[in-house]
Amino acid sequence: MEQREQWGSRAGFILAAAGSAIGLGNIWRFPYVVYENGGGAFLIPYFFALLTAGIPILLLEFGIGRMGKGSAPLSFSKLSRKFEWLGWWQTLICFVITTYYVIIIGWAISYFFYSFNLSWGEDTKAFLFGSHLGLPDDVVTEQGWNFGGIQWRVFVPLVAVWAATYFVLIQGVQKGIEKVSKVFMPLLAVIMVIFVIRAAMLPGASLGLNHLFTPDFGKILPPILGGTNEAWYTVWIAAYGQIFFSLSIAFAIMVTYSSYLDKNQEVNNSGFIMALSNSGFEFLAAIGVFAAIGFMAQSSGADVKDVATAGVGLAFVVFPKIISSFPMLNSVFGAMFFLALVIAGFTSLISIIEVLIASVMDKFNITRKKAVNLVVGLSALVSIGYATGAGVVLLDIVDHFINNFGIAVSGLIEVILIGWFYNITKIRKENNLVSDFAVGSWWNVMIRFVTPIILLFMGYKNLVDELAKPYEGYPAHAIMTFGWTVVGITFVVSFVLAYAFKWRRNPMEVRS
Ligand code: ALA
Repeated sequence: MEQREQWGSRAGFILAAAGSAIGLGNIWRFPYVVYENGGGAFLIPYFFALLTAGIPILLLEFGIGRMGKGSAPLSFSKLSRKFEWLGWWQTLICFVITTYYVIIIGWAISYFFYSFNLSWGEDTKAFLFGSHLGLPDDVVTEQGWNFGGIQWRVFVPLVAVWAATYFVLIQGVQKGIEKVSKVFMPLLAVIMVIFVIRAAMLPGASLGLNHLFTPDFGKILPPILGGTNEAWYTVWIAAYGQIFFSLSIAFAIMVTYSSYLDKNQEVNNSGFIMALSNSGFEFLAAIGVFAAIGFMAQSSGADVKDVATAGVGLAFVVFPKIISSFPMLNSVFGAMFFLALVIAGFTSLISIIEVLIASVMDKFNITRKKAVNLVVGLSALVSIGYATGAGVVLLDIVDHFINNFGIAVSGLIEVILIGWFYNITKIRKENNLVSDFAVGSWWNVMIRFVTPIILLFMGYKNLVDELAKPYEGYPAHAIMTFGWTVVGITFVVSFVLAYAFKWRRNPMEVRS
């Protein structure tokens, strides 16, 4: 039996955990989420979610992993046999995320190369959806799908990302993940700082920043308190969603990573350092992106709100346009942005896949090599689906549902199950014993009351909205198959894995 691996140092652990947290969620997602949700006023729900749910859940997961010394299913099952399925559900959520996360990193690799001769031309939107993604006109109708075949510009970088991922994960925790994080995270910080300074010096930068940070309080308050937005709660949902995804919590990653900690390793301070560097990085990225948008608005005489856009478009349509109109060294600026996206995405991707590897190794008592072959092989196969012409639409639907009804709901279940059916004070005390500073009983209040109440309320509102209006107006069959069914299958299979298969390795044996 292989010895359970451990991080080589505290810095190694913090860098790996930050490497997981800082990802596409920070550079690609955060800027447009802030923009869409009231600009500066979004910071109130954001910090509220960070302090009441983000950091408390992070410390909870650090405690569970450190004490459990096992993958998420194993660590949860050590708290109670009845919690094992939740570990599997979160593991399967990671499987789903892996299969499309890898694709976005692949796009960023292509765009890194496109930057050198600005291959996207004038019409960056037509280039993305046409030449790069090969999206057919009638991709999904009431009658069905037109997948449009494999797109080689997406497929080739995809193979490259898988090869690199395989290479790192086969080396293990210390020689693979930790080493990569120690090199990539400082490199990423340097690239981002240069990028942001350059962007902030552009003419018109302040236009973009004003837009990003000017608060629109009407958007975050209920009408009864003077708000102007009927669906004000969606802003709060977006804040919680961003915090969960960005901090890599509620989908098993931090439980897995902290299971490689030495029993006496500090956790509270490490958790705060990690969470705050993740937020700091998000702000840095948003400042860089919006400064560049301000420049674009000024130079094209357009309004900032007509230049900025949401989702895939911000990084892959608006940014190329900005890069093309850059005063000088535009290829360098472009290459830097996409390289940052690739590096940030890669260190997160390996953490998401490590969750699966650890779970399979523990439950079926197989070697790392076999687990990596199985997990990477299967995920790579499924990811090919997103390399078809319909890939971007599939990705949009799967991402929306797995975030809103996978991660958010599993977070809710986690705080209820563990907060109410396990003595969480024990976890807090164990964490405090090894930590630089102690966390008080406010933490229990957040886990047991504040977070579940807010998530329950928002989850209900979200569900009602979702059922009333199909996401993005996609046909019902598309939403059913790639939205609800994908989430439903992960949920059902988690019980099968927990109850239909015995632990090949006695969980008590791995307790060590
Ligand atoms: N936490 C990772 C991200 O932000 C998954 O992209």
